[in-house]
Amino acid sequence: MQDAAAALPARLLGDISGKTVIDLCAAPGGKTAQLASAGASVTAVDRAPPRVKLLNINLRRLKLQVEVVTADGATWKPAAPADAVLLDAPCSATGTIRRHPDVALLKTERDVTSVKPVQAELLKNAARMLKPGGTLVYCVCSLQPEEGPQQIAAFLKANQGFSRKPVTAGEIGGLSELITPDGDLRTLPFHLAEQGGMDGFFAARLVKKG
Ligand SMILES: C[S@@+](CC[C@H](N)C(=O)[O-])C[C@H]1O[C@@H](n2cnc3c(N)ncnc32)[C@H](O)[C@@H]1O
Repeated sequence: MQDAAAALPARLLGDISGKTVIDLCAAPGGKTAQLASAGASVTAVDRAPPRVKLLNINLRRLKLQVEVVTADGATWKPAAPADAVLLDAPCSATGTIRRHPDVALLKTERDVTSVKPVQAELLKNAARMLKPGGTLVYCVCSLQPEEGPQQIAAFLKANQGFSRKPVTAGEIGGLSELITPDGDLRTLPFHLAEQGGMDGFFAARLVKKG
């Protein structure tokens, strides 16, 4: 079961049927299941063994075939470059404040500064895993600009071989209010309020130049 916002980033990879997709921070597997159900050949990577166990249980329950790897996504190398990489990076999770109001009291600046370098290293390695022309979707369930738009700005500055492919309303059910002026996805807890709201999520789609 995923929040409505959490289901959007995988959709930004478009038609992935028959394509190779690496899900780089995969456990417990909400997005892995979405990718495999869409017909992709998925490799799911996560570094935390207890969470990988949960991922395997979920995939077995859903009867989905996925290659599961326990490894550090910041250094792991696939056997062959992939058509797409989804990086649902570890983050401060401030976007879950609607479901976890204690976030406002418990999270500190350190929760952001400690994950920032990890996110940057994961992004750098994710970029190496792609075929030319391949698509990278980076996402976090954080509201903090340092973990979202600022990570992407720094990545694009350092990696001229990548460009942003803006999200279009048609890809996300016509919800143009979820798209930033840069073309990234930014959901906020008050969006879709009549349906109960959604988690705060940031996602950017990048393409490796061919
Ligand atoms: C936001 S959760 C992923 C949620 C998952 N994508 C889903 O949709 O169910 C982030 C995950 O990143 C994993 N992680 C953190 N650092 C990592 C690293 N260096 N390499 C691989 N996985 C990592 C954590 O174990 C955690 O499972």
